[in-house]
Amino acid sequence: MKTQNKEQVAPHPVLPEYYGDESERRGRVDGMFDSSAAHYDWINSIMSFGSGELYRRQALERSGLEPGMWVLDVGSGTGVVAHLAQGIVQDKGLVVALDPSAGMLGEAKTRGVSNIAQGLGERLPFPDDTFDRVTMGFALRHVADLHALFSEYRRVLKPGGKILLLEITRPENAFFKGGLKFYMKGVVPTLTRLFRRSSEAQELMRYYWDTIEQCVSPSIILATMEEVGLQLPRRHVVMGMFSEYSGSEIKTNG
Ligand SMILES: C[S@@+](CC[C@H](N)C(=O)[O-])C[C@H]1O[C@@H](n2cnc3c(N)ncnc32)[C@H](O)[C@@H]1O
Repeated sequence: MKTQNKEQVAPHPVLPEYYGDESERRGRVDGMFDSSAAHYDWINSIMSFGSGELYRRQALERSGLEPGMWVLDVGSGTGVVAHLAQGIVQDKGLVVALDPSAGMLGEAKTRGVSNIAQGLGERLPFPDDTFDRVTMGFALRHVADLHALFSEYRRVLKPGGKILLLEITRPENAFFKGGLKFYMKGVVPTLTRLFRRSSEAQELMRYYWDTIEQCVSPSIILATMEEVGLQLPRRHVVMGMFSEYSGSEIKTNG
């Protein structure tokens, strides 16, 4: 087994405005995503000014995804990344979309994602050495433990396989960060309430920003990748706030 037992690394501290402790967090997060699933793609498009799919496709291409590869998309949600990956790997490849939220997976199915699985990134229901790529789009902040997550990624990757994690990172520049916070915690939730008439989706978007603001630094994410034995951990930054984390599984016994 390519796993190690080390201390837990939570992606952010407990956020008491939304849940009391870690045991409550899981149900609360799943509940928010379930009840907002029908609104997620609309929110995503206003959040990214319509560029979300293009950005994800370019990131997949940059990661070297090719026809015939086997891909696991964790935290797949409505399946945006999984669906794009399906188009790249084509019929000779395979894409599995995994998510704990049944509501989000229902939307992924509607989008045309062929293979879906309900589960958590920290406990993947797949055998060792199965996938060429593990992808994760904007879901890193919602897991319980980055150490368990990356150990699982390593375990299910074939030797030579790679991970690609897309995340929003709070900008270092205070002015830029203030503007982003105003847009993501103020404007996006208000538009969501007005146009989608969903208080749950409005709350999800407020929570979304709070997890970005409270998320551990990129250096901790990279150090945790290295600690579990992922090789060449790297962070590529786009527009000062989009982080693309990559790393490879090279050894077969860690
Ligand atoms: C913001 S959505 C991202 C959806 C999609 N990947 C994208 O690129 O837009 C985050 C997703 O992470 C899922 N999630 C939450 N906790 C998770 C966990 N522990 N493991 C895997 N996915 C999780 C949520 O259910 C939700 O669908």
